[in-house]
Parts: sequence; C-alpha cells; structure tokens
Amino acid sequence: MRSFRSSSEYYNSIANVYDKMYEDIYWTIAKQQIKVTIEKHIFSMSGLSVIDIGGGTGYWSLWALKKGARVVFVEPAKKMLEQARKKIRKEMGMELRDVHIEFINCPAEDLDFHLHLEEKFDVIFLLGDVLSYVDNLEKAMENISRATKKGALVFGTVDNYFSYLKDVIIYGSWRDYNYLVNHRKLPIGSEFGTFEARAFEPAEIENIFEDNGFKVIELTALASPPSVELSMKYGKHFIFEAEHLFFVAKKV
Ligand SMILES: C[S@@+](CC[C@H](N)C(=O)[O-])C[C@H]1O[C@@H](n2cnc3c(N)ncnc32)[C@H](O)[C@@H]1O
Repeated sequence: MRSFRSSSEYYNSIANVYDKMYEDIYWTIAKQQIKVTIEKHIFSMSGLSVIDIGGGTGYWSLWALKKGARVVFVEPAKKMLEQARKKIRKEMGMELRDVHIEFINCPAEDLDFHLHLEEKFDVIFLLGDVLSYVDNLEKAMENISRATKKGALVFGTVDNYFSYLKDVIIYGSWRDYNYLVNHRKLPIGSEFGTFEARAFEPAEIENIFEDNGFKVIELTALASPPSVELSMKYGKHFIFEAEHLFFVAKKV
C-alpha cells in the first residue's frame, strides 16, 4: 500500500472518488448532526463571512453559499480544490465570478501569506478533521485565531485519541502503541493509501482553543449513536468512545 508524506498528497490522489467515499450511513448521520448543530447556534447564515479551511471538494462551502453566506475556501490539495470549483459552479448554476466565493490554494499554516487576516470571519469551518492533518498546529491555530471576529464560531471535527488507542490495543503491536503514546499520531487512510494523522483527547481540544482565545462551548461525539436525534441528545456521553470528536468554539 502506498504511504503518502502528507494528507494533502493523499487527498490530491483521491480527489475524484472523495465524494463517493463519504456517502455511507455514518457520514450521512455525521453531516446531518453538524448541520443541525450549526443551525442551533446560528439563526441565519445570510450575509455572514465564512472561512472553510481544508474545504476539500466544497461540501460545506456549497451548503453555506446556498444559505446566503460569503465564503473563503482554503485547501492545499489542488485537485480537491478543482473538484470544489466544478461542484460549486454546477450546483449554484452560475459562473464562479458571480458566486460569493474566493478560492485559496494553501494550507492553514500559510493563510497569513494569502489573506489579510485581521478579524474578518464570523464562522470558521474546520470540518473533516482538518486539525488532525495540519503539519504545524500552533501556526494553524494562530492564523485561525487572527482571522476570527470576537464572538465568531468555529465548527470542527478531529480524530479522537481514545479511538486510536483502542485500535492499537486491539489490532496493533506494542511498537504501534508506543508510537501513538509518544507522537499522538498513527497512519490512517483507505485502500488508496495511508498518511499520518494526529488524534486529540477531548481535554486537549478545550486547552488548545482556550490558549488561542476561544472557549469550547460544545464538545460531543460525532455520529456515535446511530441516528441524528440520538447523536444530538447523547453524543456528549460518548466522547471517550467516539471515532471523531465534534466541537463548537466561540472567540472570546
Ligand atoms: C477529510 S477532508 C475534509 C474536507 C471537507 N472539509 C469536508 O468535510 O468534506 C480533509 C481536508 O483537509 C485538507 N488539509 C490537509 N492538510 C491541511 C492543512 N495543513 N491546512 C488545511 N487543509 C488541509 C486535505 O487536503 C483535505 O481536503
């Protein structure tokens, strides 16, 4: 199996099959849980400025655009970005110059080279485990914090450390276990290849955001119980079992 040096290289190589890979029941519940949660916190997206970091093939940007938001789309994998451009042009039924979206081909860590960051955005998407994939978490968080208005909301998901831990205990070796404990990372991926990703404990997410001027106002399991309703109601009781953590943070 091919092992990729970075997640963006991996995503570049699977860009044309990415959407198909996320059509299963888990991701259908996950996306619905995320939408219901965003709508619980934000009454209307109309006119809000959204930055979609690690926007992938544009799922969340398209959703926000359809709700009337202005979007900055940030993605380091060129082929994912091209898929997003195609999808958004088709689904919005107009040329991209007439859509309120700007595309930026860079990682979160380089945002300050491409954009005048200061407190521009009302909403930040870090959906699809983007913080698990960044190379330099401190720099990425610094840029995210600079880009965010006071009172703005971040919606994100990450890989859960306790799920990685369970995997190495059940399927891995002593060496894998030590690697995870020392690096907080494991190789993940699909039949198309692997790359290293970082996992977070629930308390780590709270601390990282607090250190960067945010307060985590919701931290829950993503699609752990098998329905949207159950996930919304009981997700917070499954944060040590879930594969992914879903968080909402507010800039204070
Ligand atoms: C699982 S996909 C999620 C895509 C989209 N947000 C979604 O939820 O469908 C993760 C994305 O993060 C991108 N990514 C990887 N490293 C990144 C970085 N340093 N900064 C921003 N995005 C990154 C990948 O290229 C990939 O498109």
